[in-house]
Amino acid sequence: MTSTASSPAPLTFPEGFIWGAATAAFQVEGAGHVDGRRDSIWDTFCTVPGAVLDGHDGEVACDHYNRYEADTSLMQSMNIGAYRFSTSWSRVRPDGVSGPGGVNSKGIDFYSRLVDSLLEKNILPWLTLYHWDLPQALEDKGGWANRDTAYLFSEYAITMHEALGDRVGVWTTLNEPWCSSFLSYTAGVHAPGRQSRPDGLAAAHHLMLGHGLATQELRSRDTKANLGLTLNFTVADPVDPSSADDVDAARRIDAQFNRVFADPVFKGAYPVDLLQDLDEVGLADGFLALVKDGDLETISTPIDTLGVNYYHGEAVSKTPPTSTLVSDAPVERPTSSPYPAADGVYVHPRGLPVTDMDWEIQPEGLTRLLLRLQAEYTGPARARLFVTENGCAYDDVADENDDVDDQNRLDFYDVHLRATHDAIAQGADVGGYFAWSLLDNFEWAWGYHKRFGIVRVNYETQERTIKASGRWYSDVARTNSLTA
Ligand code: NOJ
Repeated sequence: MTSTASSPAPLTFPEGFIWGAATAAFQVEGAGHVDGRRDSIWDTFCTVPGAVLDGHDGEVACDHYNRYEADTSLMQSMNIGAYRFSTSWSRVRPDGVSGPGGVNSKGIDFYSRLVDSLLEKNILPWLTLYHWDLPQALEDKGGWANRDTAYLFSEYAITMHEALGDRVGVWTTLNEPWCSSFLSYTAGVHAPGRQSRPDGLAAAHHLMLGHGLATQELRSRDTKANLGLTLNFTVADPVDPSSADDVDAARRIDAQFNRVFADPVFKGAYPVDLLQDLDEVGLADGFLALVKDGDLETISTPIDTLGVNYYHGEAVSKTPPTSTLVSDAPVERPTSSPYPAADGVYVHPRGLPVTDMDWEIQPEGLTRLLLRLQAEYTGPARARLFVTENGCAYDDVADENDDVDDQNRLDFYDVHLRATHDAIAQGADVGGYFAWSLLDNFEWAWGYHKRFGIVRVNYETQERTIKASGRWYSDVARTNSLTA
């Protein structure tokens, strides 16, 4: 086939490339207080006035707990080869207590049924242990700011592995620790809604410690398991690359968003410039006091997979912009900056098209990010890169049959898959891609107002309808290629 200027050339992905779709327990399961599940921090947060738009909660969500069988069949019909889902700590160890008495077997049974259903349909289970729903009982004891939580997380990981290790081969410890530390304990945008810089830093370190402890435990029990971590990354560019201030603004965001997590895992150390930034605001000593002997060795236990969640990059400056990009939270409740040491850093709109989250669409950022991760991080440790989340919210318009002709979402996937392919062509070892999300679902502080699914969920009837983007994605997965 000859390509023309108006129709981009077909692109084929490497053989064995994994085409997946992702969800997370709290966002889709519902069954909030069924079969022994107890409150997580998100159940509590949903009751805080103004925390979640319109007071939406996870009580029913997409009812995936009851509809999982139909959902796995839907995935099979869409040629989805892997399902990235998370298990809910609050379902499995509802009270967060240590020991065998703390296990809720009914909670485990659900994941066992889900995994069996996936395997029957030849869909690879890609299990994430922590996608933000800490048992409230543990938050009451200090949450992630308390070091004990890291050890209890590792115990919960062992519980899951004992139950499912015979059938699940891919294990991700944490999803986006930046969100479950800084967005949750410093900005107050996510549960538990604290607004403390020291608590955010403590949560970040303890999450990473939990990751390392769980990785060591699972590795010692299962030498064949593929173990990994999913981080969210931003691509921070200076608004004016010739301005030392703007370059410093971009460096700070890179340190406090990306490298604060990637460096301890792959380099066994927190970035020196991060510690200097923290020192400037009097937070370095407190942070370093949390890092006990051996912690960094634990955190840097080699992993097999680095999951990359990418949505957008940002242009930053120390000069305030003339207009702003709103994002990350509905402004019903006062929130703070998530960054412990980046006061006076501003995000500037670049005039790029935005999604319904007001996130700028910047696919080339994904190419740059994957190449950078390959060059600076995953190379020596030999972890393989997977895009574990990429996608967009749009204000979908459904017809009377609930059909959504979401060309905007389809285009978003097309350009980001081309960007992924570009990175592979330039040498990044990317093993697969997961669309966020399989289903429209509970979008955290935005409740059900933002729709990310390639499948529409009618929340009145719980009916699922594959969107145009979903039909297109199924073809991409079937052919392992992007055709014009
Ligand atoms: C990242 C999170 O992992 C997921 O839970 C969330 O819904 C998407 N980003 C979109 O914001």
